[in-house]
Amino acid sequence: MTDKLIIFDTTLRDGEQSPGASMTKEEKVRIAKALEKLRVDVIEAGFPVASPGDFAAVQAVANTIKDSTVCGLARALDKDIDCAAEALKGAVSARIHTFIATSPVHMEMKLHMSPQQVLEQAVQAVKRARQYTDNVEFSPEDAGRSETDFLCRIIEAVINAGATTINIPDTVGYTLPDRFGKLMAELRERIPNSDRAIFSVHCHNDLGLAVANSLAAVMNGARQVECTINGLGERAGNAALEEVVMAVRTRQDVFTCHTDLDTTQILTCSRLVSNITGFPVQPNKAIVGANAFAHESGIHQDGVIKHRQTYEIMRAEEVGWHANRMVLGKHSGRNAFRERLKQINIEFESEEALNAAFARFKALADKKHEIYDDDLQALVTDTLTSE
Ligand code: KIV
Ligand code: ZN
Repeated sequence: MTDKLIIFDTTLRDGEQSPGASMTKEEKVRIAKALEKLRVDVIEAGFPVASPGDFAAVQAVANTIKDSTVCGLARALDKDIDCAAEALKGAVSARIHTFIATSPVHMEMKLHMSPQQVLEQAVQAVKRARQYTDNVEFSPEDAGRSETDFLCRIIEAVINAGATTINIPDTVGYTLPDRFGKLMAELRERIPNSDRAIFSVHCHNDLGLAVANSLAAVMNGARQVECTINGLGERAGNAALEEVVMAVRTRQDVFTCHTDLDTTQILTCSRLVSNITGFPVQPNKAIVGANAFAHESGIHQDGVIKHRQTYEIMRAEEVGWHANRMVLGKHSGRNAFRERLKQINIEFESEEALNAAFARFKALADKKHEIYDDDLQALVTDTLTSE
Protein backbone atom coordinates (compact mmCIF):
# COMPACT_ATOMS: atom_id res chain seq x y z
CA MET A 1 0.00 0.00 0.00
CA THR A 2 1.28 3.48 -0.87
CA ASP A 3 1.22 6.55 1.44
CA LYS A 4 -2.05 8.37 1.89
CA LEU A 5 -2.26 11.84 0.36
CA ILE A 6 -4.49 14.01 2.53
CA ILE A 7 -6.95 16.13 0.58
CA PHE A 8 -7.63 19.42 2.31
CA ASP A 9 -10.45 21.27 0.61
CA THR A 10 -10.53 25.04 1.02
CA THR A 11 -13.46 25.86 -1.30
CA LEU A 12 -15.36 27.30 1.65
CA ARG A 13 -12.46 29.50 2.77
CA ASP A 14 -9.96 30.38 0.01
CA GLY A 15 -12.60 29.56 -2.64
CA GLU A 16 -14.99 31.98 -1.02
CA GLN A 17 -12.31 34.69 -1.19
CA SER A 18 -12.84 34.70 -4.94
CA PRO A 19 -14.48 38.05 -5.72
CA GLY A 20 -18.21 37.45 -6.16
CA ALA A 21 -18.19 33.93 -4.68
CA SER A 22 -19.40 34.58 -1.15
CA MET A 23 -21.75 31.95 0.25
CA THR A 24 -24.44 31.90 2.90
CA LYS A 25 -24.23 29.65 5.94
CA GLU A 26 -26.81 27.26 4.42
CA GLU A 27 -24.89 27.12 1.13
CA LYS A 28 -21.66 26.35 2.98
CA VAL A 29 -23.32 23.50 4.84
CA ARG A 30 -24.66 22.06 1.55
CA ILE A 31 -21.22 22.15 -0.01
CA ALA A 32 -19.60 20.73 3.13
CA LYS A 33 -22.01 17.76 3.03
CA ALA A 34 -21.11 17.12 -0.61
CA LEU A 35 -17.40 17.29 0.28
CA GLU A 36 -17.95 14.84 3.13
CA LYS A 37 -19.61 12.47 0.65
CA LEU A 38 -16.64 12.94 -1.66
CA ARG A 39 -14.63 11.83 1.40
CA VAL A 40 -12.23 14.75 1.58
CA ASP A 41 -10.08 14.47 4.68
CA VAL A 42 -10.18 18.10 5.83
CA ILE A 43 -12.74 20.81 5.08
CA GLU A 44 -11.52 24.35 5.74
CA ALA A 45 -14.89 25.91 6.49
CA GLY A 46 -13.90 29.57 6.81
CA PHE A 47 -12.09 32.29 8.72
CA PRO A 48 -14.21 32.66 11.87
CA VAL A 49 -12.84 36.01 13.05
CA ALA A 50 -13.52 37.61 9.65
CA SER A 51 -17.23 38.25 10.32
CA PRO A 52 -20.11 37.04 12.50
CA GLY A 53 -21.54 35.38 9.38
CA ASP A 54 -18.35 33.42 8.75
CA PHE A 55 -18.17 32.44 12.42
CA ALA A 56 -21.74 31.09 12.22
CA ALA A 57 -20.99 29.23 8.98
CA VAL A 58 -17.90 27.53 10.43
CA GLN A 59 -19.90 26.64 13.54
CA ALA A 60 -22.73 25.18 11.44
CA VAL A 61 -20.31 23.11 9.34
CA ALA A 62 -18.50 21.93 12.49
CA ASN A 63 -21.82 20.84 14.02
CA THR A 64 -22.94 19.01 10.88
CA ILE A 65 -19.92 17.17 9.49
CA LYS A 66 -18.97 13.87 11.09
CA ASP A 67 -16.57 12.10 8.73
CA SER A 68 -14.15 14.87 7.72
CA THR A 69 -12.00 17.06 9.95
CA VAL A 70 -13.32 20.63 10.03
CA CYS A 71 -10.74 23.41 10.01
CA GLY A 72 -10.90 27.12 10.79
CA LEU A 73 -8.34 29.69 9.68
CA ALA A 74 -6.74 32.13 12.12
CA ARG A 75 -3.98 34.71 11.83
CA ALA A 76 -1.20 34.20 14.36
CA LEU A 77 -3.12 36.28 16.88
CA ASP A 78 -4.72 35.20 20.16
CA LYS A 79 -8.13 36.67 19.30
CA ASP A 80 -8.25 34.83 15.94
CA ILE A 81 -7.21 31.53 17.50
CA ASP A 82 -9.68 31.80 20.37
CA CYS A 83 -12.44 32.67 17.91
CA ALA A 84 -11.59 29.72 15.62
CA ALA A 85 -11.53 27.36 18.61
CA GLU A 86 -14.95 28.62 19.73
CA ALA A 87 -16.46 28.15 16.25
CA LEU A 88 -15.05 24.62 16.01
CA LYS A 89 -16.23 23.48 19.45
CA GLY A 90 -18.95 21.16 18.09
CA ALA A 91 -16.71 19.35 15.59
CA VAL A 92 -16.07 15.63 15.90
CA SER A 93 -12.56 16.36 14.63
CA ALA A 94 -11.26 19.96 14.58
CA ARG A 95 -8.14 21.62 13.24
CA ILE A 96 -6.91 25.17 13.75
CA HIS A 97 -4.89 26.57 10.86
CA THR A 98 -2.76 29.54 11.80
CA PHE A 99 -0.53 31.58 9.50
CA ILE A 100 1.87 34.50 9.33
CA ALA A 101 3.81 35.87 6.38
CA THR A 102 7.50 35.04 6.04
CA SER A 103 8.63 36.67 2.78
CA PRO A 104 10.80 39.80 3.02
CA VAL A 105 8.24 41.94 1.19
CA HIS A 106 5.37 40.84 3.47
CA MET A 107 7.35 41.11 6.71
CA GLU A 108 8.75 44.53 5.84
CA MET A 109 5.91 46.20 3.95
CA LYS A 110 2.79 44.58 5.42
CA LEU A 111 3.63 43.41 8.93
CA HIS A 112 6.45 45.88 9.74
CA MET A 113 8.08 43.12 11.75
CA SER A 114 11.55 41.63 11.86
CA PRO A 115 12.01 37.93 11.02
CA GLN A 116 12.72 37.22 14.72
CA GLN A 117 9.44 38.88 15.76
CA VAL A 118 7.56 36.86 13.11
CA LEU A 119 9.15 33.65 14.37
CA GLU A 120 8.23 34.40 17.97
CA GLN A 121 4.64 35.27 17.06
CA ALA A 122 4.28 32.05 15.05
CA VAL A 123 5.53 29.96 17.98
CA GLN A 124 3.19 31.75 20.36
CA ALA A 125 0.23 31.18 18.01
CA VAL A 126 0.90 27.47 17.61
CA LYS A 127 1.24 27.04 21.39
CA ARG A 128 -2.07 28.81 21.92
CA ALA A 129 -3.84 26.72 19.28
CA ARG A 130 -2.47 23.57 20.91
CA GLN A 131 -4.32 24.51 24.10
CA TYR A 132 -7.54 23.82 22.15
CA THR A 133 -6.64 20.90 19.88
CA ASP A 134 -3.75 18.61 19.08
CA ASN A 135 -4.44 19.13 15.36
CA VAL A 136 -2.67 22.38 14.48
CA GLU A 137 -1.54 23.52 11.05
CA PHE A 138 0.94 26.31 10.46
CA SER A 139 1.47 28.20 7.18
CA PRO A 140 4.36 30.57 6.46
CA GLU A 141 2.39 32.78 4.09
CA ASP A 142 4.14 33.58 0.79
CA ALA A 143 6.60 30.73 1.36
CA GLY A 144 7.20 30.68 -2.40
CA ARG A 145 9.00 34.04 -2.11
CA SER A 146 10.52 33.48 1.34
CA GLU A 147 14.18 32.79 2.10
CA THR A 148 14.79 29.08 2.55
CA ASP A 149 17.06 29.58 5.60
CA PHE A 150 14.34 31.52 7.39
CA LEU A 151 11.69 28.97 6.42
CA CYS A 152 13.85 26.24 7.94
CA ARG A 153 14.23 28.17 11.19
CA ILE A 154 10.58 29.08 11.64
CA ILE A 155 9.28 25.64 10.65
CA GLU A 156 11.63 23.88 13.07
CA ALA A 157 10.44 26.23 15.83
CA VAL A 158 6.70 25.76 15.17
CA ILE A 159 7.07 21.97 15.02
CA ASN A 160 8.74 22.13 18.43
CA ALA A 161 5.81 24.29 19.59
CA GLY A 162 3.34 21.58 18.52
CA ALA A 163 2.37 22.15 14.86
CA THR A 164 1.38 18.83 13.31
CA THR A 165 0.95 20.00 9.70
CA ILE A 166 3.29 22.40 7.93
CA ASN A 167 1.71 23.97 4.89
CA ILE A 168 3.89 25.60 2.25
CA PRO A 169 1.84 28.19 0.38
CA ASP A 170 2.73 29.65 -2.96
CA THR A 171 0.47 32.54 -2.04
CA VAL A 172 0.91 34.57 -5.22
CA GLY A 173 1.40 31.72 -7.69
CA TYR A 174 4.97 32.81 -8.40
CA THR A 175 6.95 29.59 -8.29
CA LEU A 176 7.74 27.11 -11.05
CA PRO A 177 7.23 23.37 -10.62
CA ASP A 178 10.89 22.34 -10.67
CA ARG A 179 11.90 24.99 -8.13
CA PHE A 180 8.89 24.34 -5.91
CA GLY A 181 9.52 20.59 -5.86
CA LYS A 182 13.12 21.23 -4.86
CA LEU A 183 12.00 23.60 -2.10
CA MET A 184 9.74 20.89 -0.63
CA ALA A 185 12.57 18.35 -0.77
CA GLU A 186 15.07 20.77 0.78
CA LEU A 187 12.78 21.74 3.66
CA ARG A 188 12.08 18.12 4.53
CA GLU A 189 15.75 17.27 4.35
CA ARG A 190 17.21 20.24 6.22
CA ILE A 191 14.71 20.67 9.05
CA PRO A 192 15.87 18.28 11.79
CA ASN A 193 12.39 17.55 13.20
CA SER A 194 10.57 17.49 9.82
CA ASP A 195 9.47 13.89 10.31
CA ARG A 196 7.27 15.01 13.21
CA ALA A 197 4.89 16.89 10.89
CA ILE A 198 3.02 16.29 7.66
CA PHE A 199 4.15 18.62 4.91
CA SER A 200 1.41 20.22 2.86
CA VAL A 201 1.18 22.41 -0.21
CA HIS A 202 -1.16 25.28 -1.09
CA CYS A 203 -0.72 26.75 -4.56
CA HIS A 204 -2.35 29.65 -6.34
CA ASN A 205 -2.88 29.77 -10.05
CA ASP A 206 -1.63 33.20 -11.11
CA LEU A 207 0.60 31.67 -13.78
CA GLY A 208 -1.68 28.69 -14.40
CA LEU A 209 0.74 26.45 -12.47
CA ALA A 210 -1.16 25.66 -9.28
CA VAL A 211 -1.79 22.00 -10.09
CA ALA A 212 1.67 21.45 -11.59
CA ASN A 213 3.33 23.02 -8.53
CA SER A 214 1.17 20.97 -6.15
CA LEU A 215 2.07 17.75 -7.93
CA ALA A 216 5.77 18.67 -7.94
CA ALA A 217 5.54 19.09 -4.16
CA VAL A 218 3.79 15.73 -3.81
CA MET A 219 6.56 14.09 -5.82
CA ASN A 220 8.98 15.54 -3.29
CA GLY A 221 7.25 14.34 -0.16
CA ALA A 222 4.25 16.59 0.48
CA ARG A 223 1.46 14.42 1.87
CA GLN A 224 -1.33 16.96 1.99
CA VAL A 225 -2.64 19.08 -0.89
CA GLU A 226 -4.83 22.11 -0.30
CA CYS A 227 -7.19 22.64 -3.19
CA THR A 228 -10.67 23.75 -4.21
CA ILE A 229 -13.50 22.45 -6.34
CA ASN A 230 -13.25 23.88 -9.87
CA GLY A 231 -10.04 25.66 -8.80
CA LEU A 232 -12.07 28.46 -7.19
CA GLY A 233 -10.06 30.92 -5.09
CA GLU A 234 -8.44 34.30 -4.60
CA ARG A 235 -7.54 35.99 -7.95
CA ALA A 236 -6.84 33.23 -10.53
CA GLY A 237 -7.79 30.59 -7.98
CA ASN A 238 -6.24 27.63 -6.19
CA ALA A 239 -5.18 24.21 -7.40
CA ALA A 240 -8.27 22.38 -8.70
CA LEU A 241 -9.11 19.42 -6.47
CA GLU A 242 -10.47 17.35 -9.35
CA GLU A 243 -7.27 17.77 -11.36
CA VAL A 244 -4.91 16.96 -8.49
CA VAL A 245 -6.90 13.91 -7.41
CA MET A 246 -7.32 12.49 -10.90
CA ALA A 247 -3.67 13.09 -11.79
CA VAL A 248 -2.59 11.10 -8.74
CA ARG A 249 -5.14 8.37 -9.47
CA THR A 250 -4.43 8.15 -13.19
CA ARG A 251 -0.64 8.23 -12.85
CA GLN A 252 -0.15 5.60 -10.17
CA ASP A 253 2.89 4.54 -12.22
CA VAL A 254 4.57 7.76 -11.02
CA PHE A 255 3.04 8.71 -7.66
CA THR A 256 3.90 6.82 -4.50
CA CYS A 257 0.70 7.90 -2.75
CA HIS A 258 -3.05 7.65 -3.16
CA THR A 259 -6.16 9.46 -1.95
CA ASP A 260 -9.22 7.96 -0.25
CA LEU A 261 -11.71 10.04 -2.23
CA ASP A 262 -14.85 8.65 -3.84
CA THR A 263 -14.05 10.21 -7.21
CA THR A 264 -17.53 9.42 -8.58
CA GLN A 265 -18.75 12.38 -6.48
CA ILE A 266 -16.48 14.88 -8.23
CA LEU A 267 -18.94 16.01 -10.90
CA THR A 268 -21.74 16.49 -8.36
CA CYS A 269 -19.47 18.70 -6.23
CA SER A 270 -18.36 20.67 -9.26
CA ARG A 271 -21.94 21.36 -10.38
CA LEU A 272 -23.02 22.27 -6.84
CA VAL A 273 -20.21 24.78 -6.36
CA SER A 274 -20.82 26.25 -9.79
CA ASN A 275 -24.57 26.61 -9.17
CA ILE A 276 -24.14 28.15 -5.73
CA THR A 277 -21.43 30.62 -6.69
CA GLY A 278 -22.76 31.36 -10.17
CA PHE A 279 -19.28 30.72 -11.59
CA PRO A 280 -19.74 28.65 -14.76
CA VAL A 281 -17.29 25.85 -15.56
CA GLN A 282 -15.58 26.42 -18.90
CA PRO A 283 -16.42 23.64 -21.42
CA ASN A 284 -12.79 22.66 -21.89
CA LYS A 285 -12.02 22.47 -18.15
CA ALA A 286 -10.19 19.23 -17.32
CA ILE A 287 -12.30 16.52 -15.65
CA VAL A 288 -15.51 18.52 -15.08
CA GLY A 289 -15.92 20.63 -18.24
CA ALA A 290 -18.73 19.63 -20.63
CA ASN A 291 -16.16 18.65 -23.26
CA ALA A 292 -13.77 16.80 -20.93
CA PHE A 293 -15.00 13.42 -22.21
CA ALA A 294 -16.51 14.47 -25.54
CA HIS A 295 -15.06 13.42 -28.90
CA GLU A 296 -15.88 15.23 -32.10
CA SER A 297 -13.25 14.42 -34.68
CA GLY A 298 -13.79 11.41 -36.93
CA ILE A 299 -10.38 9.93 -36.20
CA HIS A 300 -10.88 10.18 -32.44
CA GLN A 301 -14.44 8.86 -32.56
CA ASP A 302 -13.39 5.93 -34.69
CA GLY A 303 -10.54 5.17 -32.26
CA VAL A 304 -12.75 5.39 -29.16
CA ILE A 305 -15.42 3.17 -30.75
CA LYS A 306 -12.72 0.56 -31.42
CA HIS A 307 -11.04 0.92 -28.02
CA ARG A 308 -11.66 3.64 -25.42
CA GLN A 309 -8.04 3.84 -24.34
CA THR A 310 -7.03 5.18 -27.76
CA TYR A 311 -8.13 8.67 -26.75
CA GLU A 312 -9.20 8.38 -23.10
CA ILE A 313 -6.75 8.23 -20.20
CA MET A 314 -9.49 7.77 -17.59
CA ARG A 315 -13.14 6.78 -17.71
CA ALA A 316 -15.84 9.44 -17.59
CA GLU A 317 -17.73 7.26 -15.11
CA GLU A 318 -14.84 7.43 -12.60
CA VAL A 319 -15.58 11.11 -11.95
CA GLY A 320 -19.34 10.92 -12.10
CA TRP A 321 -20.27 11.34 -15.77
CA HIS A 322 -22.76 8.76 -17.05
CA ALA A 323 -20.60 8.07 -20.08
CA ASN A 324 -18.24 9.64 -22.55
CA ARG A 325 -19.92 11.60 -25.33
CA MET A 326 -19.64 11.45 -29.08
CA VAL A 327 -20.42 14.86 -30.47
CA LEU A 328 -21.61 14.75 -34.04
CA GLY A 329 -20.20 17.69 -35.94
CA LYS A 330 -18.39 18.48 -39.15
CA HIS A 331 -15.27 16.54 -38.09
CA SER A 332 -17.19 13.34 -37.35
CA GLY A 333 -16.80 10.25 -39.49
CA ARG A 334 -19.15 7.63 -40.91
CA ASN A 335 -18.41 5.17 -38.10
CA ALA A 336 -19.56 7.53 -35.34
CA PHE A 337 -22.55 8.56 -37.45
CA ARG A 338 -23.62 4.94 -37.90
CA GLU A 339 -23.01 4.19 -34.17
CA ARG A 340 -25.18 7.09 -33.03
CA LEU A 341 -28.00 6.09 -35.39
CA LYS A 342 -27.84 2.58 -33.98
CA GLN A 343 -28.18 3.97 -30.44
CA ILE A 344 -31.36 5.77 -31.41
CA ASN A 345 -32.67 2.67 -33.20
CA ILE A 346 -32.17 3.75 -36.78
CA GLU A 347 -30.64 1.26 -39.16
CA PHE A 348 -30.44 1.52 -42.92
CA GLU A 349 -31.18 -1.40 -45.15
CA SER A 350 -28.44 -0.59 -47.60
CA GLU A 351 -25.00 0.94 -47.51
CA GLU A 352 -26.13 3.37 -50.27
CA ALA A 353 -28.90 4.74 -48.06
CA LEU A 354 -26.44 5.21 -45.21
CA ASN A 355 -24.04 7.01 -47.55
CA ALA A 356 -26.79 9.32 -48.77
CA ALA A 357 -27.77 10.17 -45.20
CA PHE A 358 -24.11 10.69 -44.28
CA ALA A 359 -23.67 13.16 -47.16
CA ARG A 360 -26.70 15.15 -45.94
CA PHE A 361 -25.32 15.01 -42.39
CA LYS A 362 -21.98 16.50 -43.54
CA ALA A 363 -23.76 19.30 -45.39
CA LEU A 364 -25.80 20.11 -42.28
CA ALA A 365 -22.74 19.90 -40.01
CA ASP A 366 -21.08 22.64 -42.04
CA LYS A 367 -23.90 24.97 -41.00
CA LYS A 368 -24.45 23.82 -37.41
CA HIS A 369 -21.93 23.36 -34.55
CA GLU A 370 -23.47 20.21 -33.14
CA ILE A 371 -25.95 17.76 -34.62
CA TYR A 372 -28.49 16.49 -32.09
CA ASP A 373 -30.67 13.39 -32.19
CA ASP A 374 -33.64 15.43 -33.40
CA ASP A 375 -31.57 16.65 -36.35
CA LEU A 376 -30.64 13.06 -37.14
CA GLN A 377 -34.25 11.93 -37.07
CA ALA A 378 -35.27 14.70 -39.44
CA LEU A 379 -32.34 14.07 -41.71
CA VAL A 380 -33.00 10.34 -41.95
CA THR A 381 -36.71 10.81 -42.64
CA ASP A 382 -35.78 13.30 -45.31
CA THR A 383 -33.29 10.89 -46.91
CA LEU A 384 -35.73 7.98 -46.91
CA THR A 385 -38.66 9.97 -48.30
CA SER A 386 -36.58 11.47 -51.09
CA GLU A 387 -35.21 8.11 -52.24
O1 KIV B 1 -2.52 31.63 -0.04
C1 KIV B 1 -2.21 31.59 1.16
O2 KIV B 1 -1.07 31.85 1.56
C2 KIV B 1 -3.26 31.26 2.11
C3 KIV B 1 -2.82 30.99 3.50
C4 KIV B 1 -3.77 31.49 4.49
C5 KIV B 1 -2.52 29.52 3.65
O3 KIV B 1 -4.40 31.10 1.73
ZN1 ZN C 1 -4.49 30.81 -0.47
